[in-house]
Amino acid sequence: MACSSGWWGGEGIEPQAAAARSLGFVTATEEVTQVGLADTYGRIATDLRVSLTDRCNLRCTYCMPEEGLDWLAKPELLTDDEIVRLVGIAVTQLGVHEIRFTGGEPLLRRGLVGIVARTTALEPRPEVSLTTNGIGLARQAVALKEAGLDRVNVSLDTIRPDTFVELTRRDRLKDVLAGMAAAQEAGLSPVKVNAVLMRGINDTHAPELLEFCLEHGYELRFIEQMPLDAQHGWDRATMVTADEILERLGEQFGLEPTDAAARGSAPAEIFSVRGGAQTVGIIASVTRPFCGDCDRVRLTADGQVRDCLFARTESDLRSAMRAGADDAELADRWRRAMWKKLPGHGINDPSFLQPARPMSAIGG
Ligand code: 5AD
Ligand code: SF4
Repeated sequence: MACSSGWWGGEGIEPQAAAARSLGFVTATEEVTQVGLADTYGRIATDLRVSLTDRCNLRCTYCMPEEGLDWLAKPELLTDDEIVRLVGIAVTQLGVHEIRFTGGEPLLRRGLVGIVARTTALEPRPEVSLTTNGIGLARQAVALKEAGLDRVNVSLDTIRPDTFVELTRRDRLKDVLAGMAAAQEAGLSPVKVNAVLMRGINDTHAPELLEFCLEHGYELRFIEQMPLDAQHGWDRATMVTADEILERLGEQFGLEPTDAAARGSAPAEIFSVRGGAQTVGIIASVTRPFCGDCDRVRLTADGQVRDCLFARTESDLRSAMRAGADDAELADRWRRAMWKKLPGHGINDPSFLQPARPMSAIGG
């Protein structure tokens, strides 16, 4: 097992199978009959990330190669109805109360507004958000708000046009900035911003990016680069760490940690800026893993359940669904898939192996 050394930061999580069994979650024959998406470490997934497409109109270097990445073929993709059906099962039968649509780039999915509208119509109504690169958001923000979308996370790593091109290989900074402004205007707030710092490219731009976000009322979070790029170019030695980011920003912005307890299962550590109400977050997935508090589950655009970004196995709900499985059977398969979730991602373990699928095919 990749995580056996305890390096993954999940120290203290022991298998809860015995406890779960005594609570009646599983029968003596190990049949998984608990209500929600539990695993043997006592975690329960309530936050579902749904990838709507593996395609993207950018080529961020930490995610995709310049060219040569194969897309999923259309028949492999879930249809809008299939997505809504699976999301409905998660919400009504499996205790999921938060849905985040991702990609690739979810705004490229033609049926997005309809999928959002049908998701926010579910009972009990889940929180629904979107992780996007912002291109095309200016055009769709109002329709998405009207469909019930609650919030957006926009990926923006730099506000310098030339660096944007270097990082994303496309000259689209203006579209992204327009998308963010439109989202805020439409009330999709607070607009959150995700930034990945790459050494020698945008790592020294962190202060100006934060200043920009503070000025506009966007909530910035820095994410440590993870080994999820299609070209397997991640290198721990050059990764910009949370400590380094804090060192760079700490004094200049008067950062103070906010109540750590408020973090809950949210991966971001939140710091207040200059003693005021504004904040910046740091998601230290690699150097300060939060796997022990993970409440996430993922559904890929081709209908595979992944219990972790770094999972090396998937559970095929699409084939089951297309073979005629009813909702109860799909829910049962989903529960079983989660039950096997490992304690941590194991990135820090010497035997770590990157998952075969890149981030763009998994959904962030
Ligand atoms: N490491 C960290 N974050 C990544 N993202 C994409 N690839 C990586 C990676 N290898 C970010 C994107 C987006 C979010 C879904 O994940 O910038 O904001
Ligand atoms: Fe596209 Fe997001 Fe990957 Fe960038 S990180 S190429 S915006 S999917």
